[in-house]
Amino acid sequence: MRKMTKGMVSALALTFGLASMAAAEDVEVLHWWTAGGEAAALNVLKEDLAKQGIGWVDMPVAGGGGEAAMTALSARVTAGDPPTAVQMLGFDITDWAEQGVLGNLDAVAGPEGWDKVIPAALQAFSKHDGHWIAAPVNVHSTNWVWISKAALDKTGLGEPTNWDELIAVLDKMKENGITPLAHGGQPWQDATIFDSLVLAQGNDFYKAAFIDLDPEALGGEKMAAAFDQLIKLRSYVDDNFSGRDWNLASAMVINGEAGMQVMGDWAKGEFLKAGQKPGEGFICIRFPGTQGAVTFNADQFAMFKVKGEEKVKAQLAMASAIESPTFQSAFNVVKGSVPARTDVPDTDFDDCGKKGIKDLAEANTNGTLFGSMAHGYGAPAAVKNATYDVITAVFNGEYTDGASAATALKDAVAAAQ
Ligand code: BGC
Repeated sequence: MRKMTKGMVSALALTFGLASMAAAEDVEVLHWWTAGGEAAALNVLKEDLAKQGIGWVDMPVAGGGGEAAMTALSARVTAGDPPTAVQMLGFDITDWAEQGVLGNLDAVAGPEGWDKVIPAALQAFSKHDGHWIAAPVNVHSTNWVWISKAALDKTGLGEPTNWDELIAVLDKMKENGITPLAHGGQPWQDATIFDSLVLAQGNDFYKAAFIDLDPEALGGEKMAAAFDQLIKLRSYVDDNFSGRDWNLASAMVINGEAGMQVMGDWAKGEFLKAGQKPGEGFICIRFPGTQGAVTFNADQFAMFKVKGEEKVKAQLAMASAIESPTFQSAFNVVKGSVPARTDVPDTDFDDCGKKGIKDLAEANTNGTLFGSMAHGYGAPAAVKNATYDVITAVFNGEYTDGASAATALKDAVAAAQ
């Protein structure tokens, strides 16, 4: 009898709805890419792997920013049954590496020369004790604003380049009868806006506060000013913002209900999925006052230690596929992010993508590339969560002045360390 091919096994598994029939060389992938643009990008990855004979067992855990996915992951690791590959960010990777549960990708990373092409800022998280433990698939950044072109044109104003201009545009949008700021009230989304506000207070200040966790920066005047701005921005969201998913906020800008969204460049994936183009339907700008700097979050696939030679082979094949320059281009064009390698041409990227690639390279050279606090590249989870709590309390009106919020942040971070 002819041996069943892996494709046939996968087809059978699908027919009978039995994920457990997955072949040993399949990869089970835990991720939180469930929004339209994210799913489209995920398909690029699935199809690329399928071409190489690597089967895919999907483990999606919805929830932007990945908090729910990380909870699901803990349960699987505790049960002694980690998925083969897991979408992960920053310090979460380091935390798992320190627990000794991650695999080793050196067998592909070495010969393929990853050291030379993946920016050092990413390698700091993709490697542990000198060994590759995760394969970065992209670089996103959080200091972006996505603006409806029609809504901006209607204000008669230009693209805002500083705080005062931003407020003028938001005020005018309000006068024009739309929701100026599309936002979803979830802690990670509040924190995503706050990345930009803190960065706009100065590059050195962002680093002191969110990377070095300097108490004077956390509790000082600049932090108070950033919180005051957050309180101001809150006045531009609609009444139903609470709990809204980020992609629904993007949809408000796409359909003209709202003027703009402050969000990472995964939002671009939603605009593209809806058929809009940069410069036509929407405009992308760096958050006013943060031009020249980038707060990054790179999605990486961390590979857990798994039993069985075939499974390890599949992990290495997946890692290698992810780092291929052609895949990096194809995937990131759809995802809204930019390549995790410095040698991928920007030819296929739209104007926002080209700008993203250029901004990243410049920030990397100029020392203005910083890990995103909101997305786990600033500090470990305990500090991040403590920071989220204060930011969300501010966004929900629990503080009326920035100075007391800054003091609360300084105390919360100290307690979390
Ligand atoms: C991830 C993105 C994702 C976004 C929203 C971020 O933390 O880096 O890949 O699209 O969350 O889900």
